[in-house]
Amino acid sequence: MNTDKQQQEIWNEIGAREDWQLFIKGDMTRGWLEEERYRESGKKDAEEIFNRLKEGGVDLYGKRVLEIGCGGGRMTSEFKKLGVKMEGIDISKSLIGKLKKNNRKIQTYIGYNLKSIPNNYYDAILSFMTFQHCNKESVIRYFKQGLDKLKDGGYFVFQLPVKGETSEITTPFVDYTRGYIDETHLFDGIKLRHWDFSELEELKEGYKELFGFTAFIDASVFVFQKE
Ligand SMILES: C[S@@+](CC[C@H](N)C(=O)[O-])C[C@H]1O[C@@H](n2cnc3c(N)ncnc32)[C@H](O)[C@@H]1O
Repeated sequence: MNTDKQQQEIWNEIGAREDWQLFIKGDMTRGWLEEERYRESGKKDAEEIFNRLKEGGVDLYGKRVLEIGCGGGRMTSEFKKLGVKMEGIDISKSLIGKLKKNNRKIQTYIGYNLKSIPNNYYDAILSFMTFQHCNKESVIRYFKQGLDKLKDGGYFVFQLPVKGETSEITTPFVDYTRGYIDETHLFDGIKLRHWDFSELEELKEGYKELFGFTAFIDASVFVFQKE
C-alpha cells in the first residue's frame, strides 16, 4: 500500500481536479459525477447510516462527532443537517478546501493521525470509504488514538471492506468481496485494500464490538464501543 506521504500527494492532486467528485463517489461507467448527484449521494448515505445506527441504539443527534476521511464533506454536511455536531479530518488539504467552501463553520483538521485533536472529547468517531485506502498501520493507529479522543462509552463507527467467508457478522458484502485481490487499483495511484476478519481483531483492543450492518455500496459497517 501507499505510505501516508504518497497518499497525501495523491489525494491532494485529486482534490485539485475539476472532476474530483468522480474519485469520491463516482459512477465508473459514466465517468463523471455531477455536483447534484454527488450531493444527493451524501444525503442518502448519511441518512441511511444515521437511521441504521439509531435502530441499533446509537443516536447521534446532538452528539459531538469526528469524521475521519471526511474529504469534500459529502456526508459530513448531511450529518450536520441531521443535528449532529460534526468535525472532520482528512489527509487532503484540497478536499478539506471543498468542504470548507460550503461549510465554513465545521471544524476541520488536515493530517493522517489524531495527534492535534482534543482528548476525551467526542461521543463518536465515524469513517466511511477511507480505511480501504489506508495502509494497515495507519488504520490501527487511528483506532489506538481514537481511544484517547473518545469519551468513555463513545462509539467508533467505520466501514471497512472485508474479505473471507466466515464471520459472526453476516453480510452480503462477504460475497461481494470474495475473490477480490488484496490491492485493487482503481485509478492511477489509488489502491483499495480488503481486510481479513482475523485482522479486524487487531483493531478491537480497548473496544467491544456492538453490531455491524451492510449499508451503502453493499459495504460492511462496524460499530465498536470504547470499553
Ligand atoms: C473515497 S474518499 C471518501 C470521502 C468521504 N468519506 C465520503 O464518503 O465522501 C476517501 C477519502 O479518504 C481520505 N484519506 C485517504 N487516506 C487518509 C488517511 N490516512 N487519513 C485521513 N484521510 C485519508 C482521502 O483524502 C479522501 O477524502
